[in-house]
Amino acid sequence: MAHEVQGVVARGKGEPVAVETIVVPDPGPGEALVQVQACGVCHTDLHYREGGIGDDYPYLLGHEAAGIVESVGDGVTGVAPGDFVVLNWRAVCGECRACRRGRPWYCFATHNASQKMTLADGTPLSPALGIGAFAEKTLVAAGQATPVDPRARPEAAGLLGCGVMAGFGAAVNTGGVQRDDTVAVFGCGGVGNAAIAAARLVGARTIIAVDVDATKLAWAKDFGATHTVNALEEDPVERIRELTDGNGADVCVEAVGRPEVLEQAFYARDLAGTVVQVGVPTPDMALPNIPMIDFFGRGGALRPSWYGDCLPSRDFPLLIDLYLQGRFDLDRFVSETISLDAVEDAFHKMERGEVLRSVLTF
Ligand SMILES: NC(=O)c1ccc[n+]([C@@H]2O[C@H](COP(=O)([O-])OP(=O)(O)OC[C@H]3O[C@@H](n4cnc5c(N)ncnc54)[C@H](O)[C@@H]3O)[C@@H](O)[C@H]2O)c1
Ligand SMILES: [Zn+2]
Ligand SMILES: [Zn+2]
Repeated sequence: MAHEVQGVVARGKGEPVAVETIVVPDPGPGEALVQVQACGVCHTDLHYREGGIGDDYPYLLGHEAAGIVESVGDGVTGVAPGDFVVLNWRAVCGECRACRRGRPWYCFATHNASQKMTLADGTPLSPALGIGAFAEKTLVAAGQATPVDPRARPEAAGLLGCGVMAGFGAAVNTGGVQRDDTVAVFGCGGVGNAAIAAARLVGARTIIAVDVDATKLAWAKDFGATHTVNALEEDPVERIRELTDGNGADVCVEAVGRPEVLEQAFYARDLAGTVVQVGVPTPDMALPNIPMIDFFGRGGALRPSWYGDCLPSRDFPLLIDLYLQGRFDLDRFVSETISLDAVEDAFHKMERGEVLRSVLTF
């Protein structure tokens, strides 16, 4: 039996999103039907509606979600009805060449549901990042649903499903930040602030937040930044060198997605330091014009970070436990909770920099 529920759909490039009736099939083999309890509004949802990711309209938006498994299809063993889960957009396959070499966080063949959710007239929907959780129910591959401790608030837990995990993992998994490190984070939205919180958690000594927005910098301090730099008022490369005995930071995290910021991150790093690129560029952007001798002479590493090199099955339960112990403040990312019809408004608040995350609750 299919389920008719309400969901937020982007019909065409740049068109305001609308609440529509959608049809969600019962789970087939390897799939899970999830009753969504909360879903954060992420910049990527806005990219979909603006045509920045593809042209496969209509999109069913939403992908930072937590909820309860309602039913599962044949052959599903990892989750069961009633489980509280956080959804992820990289359900590893276990069989591709990356998985077989023991590097599943790079999996090249991640799973999504095989059946399509549709509009009421049967038009197939493209779910954002293979999830589509601005809806009362959604259908995913069972591996996209990771069980976590049900005592966590869904509004907070769901945020692990994308930006917070990406930022946290960019610092700790990709950048390898550890005790005594100096870290600079460029861009202090949900992703950058999660990188800052992660750096504090693992004992980084100096954590420098860089943004162009004073409010974001104030929030970065709350997450654990030891210093802030407003890139509109001073040169971040110079300032970061000053704050690190003239050397630069051990790890620089670029969480904006712009070439000039990547260049700043490259030069603000100590010799043999690491640049982590977690901000997502648009297809027209190119790497800054860095002389090859600088690339060689500065040594170290330049590392893109997909989803914070996370393994949902390892990292989601861990971060939820740290949250429940009061060691990782997921609640601080939740700026407001909203209803299904307020997603378009939430996009505008995000563009004006007023929120870290608006979270849709059901
Ligand atoms: N790699 C991944 O898997 C992954 C996952 C989720 C999001 N992302 C990407 O991470 C990036 C950040 O996401 P977000 O949700 O935090 O977005 P956001 O819009 O909330 O935050 C971006 C921040 O960058 C700041 N900024 C803008 N220009 C700047 C500049 N020149 N210098 C310094 N700061 C500047 C903004 O003021 C803002 O605070 C986006 O590109 C997003 O697509 C990547
Ligand atoms: Zn794989
Ligand atoms: Zn996202």
